[in-house]
Amino acid sequence: MGTLSTFQAGSGYQAWLGYRQLLPGDRFDQYAVFNRIHVTETDSVIQTAVSELTHGLEGILGVKPEFAEQGKHAIAIGTFGNNPVVDRIVTAEKIALIGQEGYVIITDKKNACMAVGAATSNGVLYGTFHLLRLLSTGSDINELDIVDNPINRLRMINQWDNMDGSVERGYAGESIFFKDNLITEDHGRIRDYARMLASVGLNGIVINNVNVHKVESKLITEFLPDVAKLAAIFREYAIKLFLSVNYASPIEIGGLTTADPLDSDVRQWWKEKTADVYAAIPDFGGYLVKADSENRPGPFTYGRDHADGSNMLAEALEPFGGMVIWRCFVYNCKQDWRDRKTDRARAAYDHFKPLDGRFMDNVILQIKNGPLDFQVREPVSPLLGAMPSTNQVLEFQIAQEYTGQQRHLFYLIPQWKEILDFETYTKGKGSPIKRIASGSVHGNRLAGIAAVSNIGDEMNWTGHLLAQVNLYGYGRLVWNPDLTAENIAEEWIKLTFGDNENSINVIKNMLLSSPAIYECYTAPLGVGFMVTPHTHYGPDVDGYEYAKWGTYHYADWHGIGVDRTLATGTGYTSQYNSPNFERYESLADCPDELLLFFHHVPYTHVLHSGKTVIQHIYDTHFEGVEKAERLVTEWYSLAGTMNEVLHKQVAERMEEQVEHAKEWRDRINTYFYRKSGIADKAERLIYS
Ligand code: GCU
Repeated sequence: MGTLSTFQAGSGYQAWLGYRQLLPGDRFDQYAVFNRIHVTETDSVIQTAVSELTHGLEGILGVKPEFAEQGKHAIAIGTFGNNPVVDRIVTAEKIALIGQEGYVIITDKKNACMAVGAATSNGVLYGTFHLLRLLSTGSDINELDIVDNPINRLRMINQWDNMDGSVERGYAGESIFFKDNLITEDHGRIRDYARMLASVGLNGIVINNVNVHKVESKLITEFLPDVAKLAAIFREYAIKLFLSVNYASPIEIGGLTTADPLDSDVRQWWKEKTADVYAAIPDFGGYLVKADSENRPGPFTYGRDHADGSNMLAEALEPFGGMVIWRCFVYNCKQDWRDRKTDRARAAYDHFKPLDGRFMDNVILQIKNGPLDFQVREPVSPLLGAMPSTNQVLEFQIAQEYTGQQRHLFYLIPQWKEILDFETYTKGKGSPIKRIASGSVHGNRLAGIAAVSNIGDEMNWTGHLLAQVNLYGYGRLVWNPDLTAENIAEEWIKLTFGDNENSINVIKNMLLSSPAIYECYTAPLGVGFMVTPHTHYGPDVDGYEYAKWGTYHYADWHGIGVDRTLATGTGYTSQYNSPNFERYESLADCPDELLLFFHHVPYTHVLHSGKTVIQHIYDTHFEGVEKAERLVTEWYSLAGTMNEVLHKQVAERMEEQVEHAKEWRDRINTYFYRKSGIADKAERLIYS
């Protein structure tokens, strides 16, 4: 493995940073005016910006830019007060609008120069990447006047990488961080990943899996010198490094007999280890913790709660400005739900809501977007926004665990947009998730968004080339949740495939239609799962790894769905504010796409669409396959317009998707035909 330059264009390795050379013409002439760089600062992040700008301009214009003593015919990059050209172009009013990580980009046409200015070096880096994005999407730069600040303070990526080199829920090869229980020495690849993340504005990374085994517990001890080397790479790209820690580390690697958060030896142990971490990595971000969940240790073992547990770590981190990111994915996977009242979906809210106000200032709760587990369709987690006195981070999953595992096409941005726009009513109207995540509804100091990464050591990073759009789009969306799924798709397509209008339209349509297609042929009406236990890939209607107590969806000859109403079910609906509560509680008002998540209904129940549940199941499953077939045809129409190898790679996956969609269709339709005994009105072939 090596750095960018050693990889051939066309492997997909360069992702959206593969700067294509412009042909002579309008844009070339316009951009060539600025082919010099004026910089006065030497710190490492500014130097990164300079080398990125150099690399990008050389790629786009075919000539390596020179350094300019002055601003004429140059792009001046720097922080306010430190670069005279930036200071001349950027007015005080503009400067006042720029926050810690924001930037301005302004063209001074008269003097043939341009300024990328910011309050910090990090802002300069983001501005530089944005300028490069404008250039490589062919934008007019003659009159740029951009002021841009990120909406979310924490813009995190979570690796679920294990030190043995495997990646939990990884669908693109092995880890780029670890191999054979060591930190990999391929820093070139890690560096290239850092630049990809920084280019879309991400600023924090947790490099190891939330499930921390004994060996990874030693990342804060034995392996610390190597972790520090990785932190140095990310630092140059303005990204803070975090580690997932094992709650039971004092026992596992510390030789103590307890991990009780109120035990003074345990507290002391964490303080000492944390001091060591900061001695090695002064700007270390903090710890990410999964506790008391899916067999992970946690404070419950000692009769303590999650405020006790997280505060103990927060206390150790606080003197150094570090934070604890504590996950709310806490539920008892062994619980017996036969009473039809016990409900995994309730767990996060039930555990955490009563603790509001008890967490230290440097504790942040990380909450999955839904109450279950990154399903194709589930409601928004009612815990988001429900704790006004507690910092929260929203957690997405870019890895497509339940959305086709990067073998099926699934553009995730539309799903995330829906979530971010969801109105919680936590402080009345005007409290959508995006304002909870950004911290603006409750005025949190620490807030933002995190997501599980989808990359591995496969040459094109994400396995399915088109899955790169989800990583790209994640960064763009957390920077600014108001960007549209269309715009993000279009940007990414231009950066990746060039500006052929037909290709842009075809790929954009494919991406935008993909989530609905996948939803059509998989679990119906928000019921969730129906996947092979453990792998979570492929259809298994009753499949669920914790199915000891029967099927979670309660399908029988009569009907299907989980009654989560307050009136007759698990009461989960009452975790929502009014009027969401009433909407979900009412069978008549509940949206079709979530019907079986909230209600148990007969197969003959008529949806808002006018169809019965059973007919809806049949229709959508036939339709899903047809549409997946159409995706393949669309993709083949692009043959010859792009690198052949890349085209073929995607084509193979798209064909596999169709075959797999057929399997889904047949398994689901057969199951429900057998259960219900109700025939398909259209009399299509259903295997029985
Ligand atoms: C899911 C996933 C696990 C993961 C867990 C988590 O359950 O299948 O692999 O560990 O989420 O988010 O912690």
